Amino acid sequence: MKKIAFFDTKPYDKVWFDKLNKNYEIEYFDSKLNRKTAMLANGFDAAVAFVNDDIDAGAIDRLTENNVNVLAMRCSGYNNVDIKHALGKLTVLHVPYYSPYAVAEHAMAMLLTLNRRLHKAYNRTRDFNFSLNGLTGTDLHGKTVGVIGTGKIGQVFIGICRGFGMNVIAYDPYPAADTDYKYVSLDELFSSSDFISLHCPLTEQSHHIIDRASIGKMKQGVFIVNTSRGGLIDSEALLGGLNDGVIKGAALDVYEEESDLFFEDYSNEVVLDEVLSLLVSRPNVLITSHQAFLTDEALEKIAEITLKNLDDYFAGKPLDNEVVYHPKDSAAVK
Ligand code: NAI
Repeated sequence: MKKIAFFDTKPYDKVWFDKLNKNYEIEYFDSKLNRKTAMLANGFDAAVAFVNDDIDAGAIDRLTENNVNVLAMRCSGYNNVDIKHALGKLTVLHVPYYSPYAVAEHAMAMLLTLNRRLHKAYNRTRDFNFSLNGLTGTDLHGKTVGVIGTGKIGQVFIGICRGFGMNVIAYDPYPAADTDYKYVSLDELFSSSDFISLHCPLTEQSHHIIDRASIGKMKQGVFIVNTSRGGLIDSEALLGGLNDGVIKGAALDVYEEESDLFFEDYSNEVVLDEVLSLLVSRPNVLITSHQAFLTDEALEKIAEITLKNLDDYFAGKPLDNEVVYHPKDSAAVK
């Protein structure tokens, strides 16, 4: 039986992998995969990793020195893998599609919560504080939502927004054909949107797509939702926009410095990230810790596709979900 070294394991990961796995001996490691921990994979045939593992050149070299020649990412994003360095050494597989509904629904849940101050109301009423002061929201109906990235998740999110009677505009360098919403330039999206939701991958082009300059072009009172990747937003610029009131609220499922924090419990420790501490302390910022994917359906699909990717690899079959670096592509950034 082939052996899998499974990194950065959480209890919810095991549920579906244990249920669906028939062909492998899986050893679950708590540690994240990085250049220091890669040697744990010695004696294994494959490594399985997740969004905040750091699979840089050093980690790839350690894996391949230990004869681990395949890495199965149990997620869609692979911006944390040096795919250029992996070329010709390590086969990298990912799960391009599991549940766009999980992420799009979470984005809307965050938008609604932030806009209608449900996070504040929940805490108040638990304390028998039934005051409504400060809880005023805005109707979504008739408002403009700007969607950046209209792939699988962006399109589901657009459908949800349409259900709320919102006017949808979008930006994507590769626009979809025959849409019932309008593609606009990024500048027009920034200046026209009441809500902006990010659904593009993190690349050199999209890194800090929300920065001081783009915030300067936005409507006063805009809400920003990011369920994509933290590096899409310059967090200090975001704080600036919140301070001067241009940004009325920010819903963040991802954060650019999340890798050592998210998915872990630091409630008994002092977190020294000052930008995150300032964001967390704001009543108009809602943070979840990379939770958007977390539904039963998504976890089942992730396990099913990750195991199938490995089955195909070991059977020498064509690999539908291989990630290969092409020199013409921009390298993904962290
Ligand atoms: P997808 O590949 O179907 O769609 C991405 C879209 O973004 C494509 O249409 C592409 O043309 C567009 N795009 C690429 N560069 C762009 C740019 N610079 N500006 C605007 N658009 C650009 O990907 P999918 O499945 O919709 O996922 C989107 C992102 O969601 C992923 O890259 C990942 O970062 C994030 N994600 C977050 C999860 C979470 O739990 N928070 C879970 C799964 C994905």
